[in-house]
Formats: sequence, structure tokens, C-alpha cells
Amino acid sequence: MKILITGGAGYIGTHTCVELLNGGYEIVVVDNYSNSKPESLDRVREITNKDFPVYAVDILDRKALTSVFTENEIDAVIHFAGLKAVGESVSFPLRYYYNNVTGTLILCDVMREFAVSKIVFSSSATVYGMQECVPFHEDLPLQATNPYGRTKLMIEEILHDIYQSNHNWSIALLRYFNPIGAHHSGLIGEDPNGIPNNLVPYISQVAVGKRDKLHVFGNDYPTHDGTGVRDYIHVSDLAAGHVKALEKVLQTEGIEAYNLGTSIGYSVMEVIQAFEENSGRAIPYEIKNRRLGDIAVSFADSQKAEKELGWTAKKGLDDMCRDAWRWQEKNPNGYEEKEQLLNKN
Ligand code: NAD
Ligand code: UFG
Repeated sequence: MKILITGGAGYIGTHTCVELLNGGYEIVVVDNYSNSKPESLDRVREITNKDFPVYAVDILDRKALTSVFTENEIDAVIHFAGLKAVGESVSFPLRYYYNNVTGTLILCDVMREFAVSKIVFSSSATVYGMQECVPFHEDLPLQATNPYGRTKLMIEEILHDIYQSNHNWSIALLRYFNPIGAHHSGLIGEDPNGIPNNLVPYISQVAVGKRDKLHVFGNDYPTHDGTGVRDYIHVSDLAAGHVKALEKVLQTEGIEAYNLGTSIGYSVMEVIQAFEENSGRAIPYEIKNRRLGDIAVSFADSQKAEKELGWTAKKGLDDMCRDAWRWQEKNPNGYEEKEQLLNKN
């Protein structure tokens, strides 16, 4: 079984490649390295001791993408390729709509041309927008509050229309909550460009001494300690969820959305404490104003994924912090150092 992974060199993509290779799948990776480095895929090879073809291809390049389908008999696609920074999407909406929406249109059209009709799509809990109550379950009305979120919402709708037009398609929309952590080997992990937007990458950089202190965005939310509550999920659990979703789309036709979360919410202060305990490093912090667009509480109702995919998250917050720290400590500059060494030689 040969699976095309778009955006496979990225954070969630690399972890999913590991799970797929360990599960006996053949993979083909496509990535334009706009937010990743080829080194991440060498690390996947190192972890799994398996090789696979990689194409430095932009999914917007229809001709190049078509060649990938011509050269490989693809059975299904896991589609990670996309831009994901909320703030950047507000400043550069066209870039986000073009890359994420047009990229998906081109991918689906090439799939149609090659009669490949099984796809697992990286959606996001961001499609729930500002909800009144938690947990979020899949049937809630959807809304988006920024261009990034709207690309996810639009792609979900486009995929629904594709299924309506042809019931041979089989589509899983995976709505991730907050992926954190890293593979337990410490060889692959999240490698953000510049100043991290997300909580755990920022905390990791404070712990390793790259940044002075964390800014805690608001301590006046209606939560037990006033700081924002999120459903953090270990990236390896998330990756395992993709294998389960893939099994499902390979066996059935239809379109279904699944929340991938732990169904447990932790506050910013609880994450800081857990990270301190698991890294042995102090995390100095300062309370700042709320970040524009943030919600107080978000966590998943993950029962549908449990019932229909046979998937639940297994790792807890301590595992997530321990693994995030192992990756950060072993790779203080992400994948950069080895890249620079290679460039010098
Ligand atoms: P990432 O940036 O690490 O990975 C995305 C990969 O896609 C990168 O390697 C990038 O180079 C590649 N890419 C982007 N545009 C491309 C294009 N046009 N052609 C080919 N490759 C392209 O991000 P991630 O955290 O691994 O996220 C993967 C997917 O999951 C994204 O679609 C993202 O929106 C979604 N998602 C992520 C999170 C999160 O918190 N990390 C949460 C919800 C949803
Ligand atoms: N936070 C801080 N300081 C920081 C970064 C974050 O206090 O430096 C707080 C936030 O205010 C929030 C929590 O930590 O309460 C988590 O923030 P993240 O940025 O890590 O995650 P978000 O839940 O805000 O965002 C994530 C994804 C987005 C997605 C959104 C909604 O990163 O792509 O979930 O699903 F849109």
C-alpha cells in the first residue's frame, strides 16, 4: 500500500511518516520545504531504518505533482501541506488562500485524474471558532475567526462537495487540538522559524536559554487559575490517529470529521509547571495582556474517534513535556546545525 504524504517533512508529517513506516506502509513524500528542512526526513530514515522517495515539489506545481503520481502508484493521500501561522495569515491572506486552498484544489484534481479517491486531511480545532461551551464535538456549527481558519473551513467544505459529486471518495477530516512533544528518540520534533507563536515551543526555548522569559497571555480568563486552557496532544499519538484514519478511508467510502485530542484541558500555568518538573529547568514568566483572538477554554470530545477509528491518545502531559524537552536539549537550534555543517563542506 503506497501512501502519498504532502508536507511530510514538517512537524506532524515526520511523526506520521514514522508511524506509517513502522506499520508496514510504503510512503512517498512531497514537500516544498517552505517550513521544513530535508534533514527531518533523514532523521525519519534513521529512526525507522527504512528508505522512501522524497520529491522537493510544491503542490501548486500541477505538472510536477502529476509526475509524482505517474511515477508512483498511489493508493491514498495524507495531506499536511499548508501554511499554519494565524497571525501571518491575517497579514498575508492571499498567500494563505492560494497555498492552502488552491494547493488542495490542485491536489484533489490530480487525484481525480489518477482515480485516487482516499484522503486524510489536516484540519484543525480552529474550525470551531469561539464556542460557548466545552468540550467541542464534531457536530457543532463551525466558524472561523481568521484567514488561516477560513482556509481549513473552506477545504472541509470543498471536500464535502467533492464527495457529494462522487460517492467513491473516502475522506477523513482530522481536527487536531494542540499537538506538542516530539518522538521519544529526540531525533525529530517541532522546529519553528523565528520567534515561536505556540506555547510549548516558546517554553522549550526559554528552558534551553534561547529566550529570557515566557509571556503568559492573560490571567483573567474564567478558568481555575485565570490562564487559557487547551487540549494538548502528544504528536506521536496524533500520528497514530492518522494511521487509524487511513485504515478507515481505505476500507470505506464517505466523509467524516474526527476530533483528535485527549479530552483533557490544561492551563498555561499547569503546562509551565509540568515542563519545569520534567526538564529540571526554571521557566521564568511574566503576565501580559490577553492575545487578540484567543479563547478561554478549548478541549475535545474525542469519543467519535474512539468509537469509529478505535483511537485514543495514550500519552499524558508529563510524556509530552519530557519528549519536547529531549528534542529541544538535543537540538537547541532545531535541524539547523547539521544543515549548516553540510553547507560548509
Ligand atoms: P509544518 O509547517 O511543520 O508542516 C507543513 C509542511 O508542509 C512543511 O514541511 C511545509 O514545508 C510544507 N508545505 C507547505 N506548503 C506547501 C506546498 N504548497 N507544497 C508542498 N509542501 C508545502 O506544520 P505542521 O505543524 O506539521 O502541520 C501540518 C498540517 O496540520 C498543516 O496543514 C497545519 O495547518 C495543520 N495543523 C497543525 C496544527 C499545529 O498546531 N501544528 C494544528 C492544527 C492543524
Ligand atoms: N500562550 C501564552 N504565551 C505564549 C504562547 C501561548 O501564554 O507565548 C497561551 C495562549 O494564550 C493559549 C495557550 O498558551 O492560552 C496555547 O496557545 P498556542 O498558541 O500554543 O495554541 P492556540 O490554542 O492558541 O493555537 C492553536 C494552533 C492554531 C489554531 C488554534 C485553534 O496553534 O493554529 O490552536 O485550534 F488555530
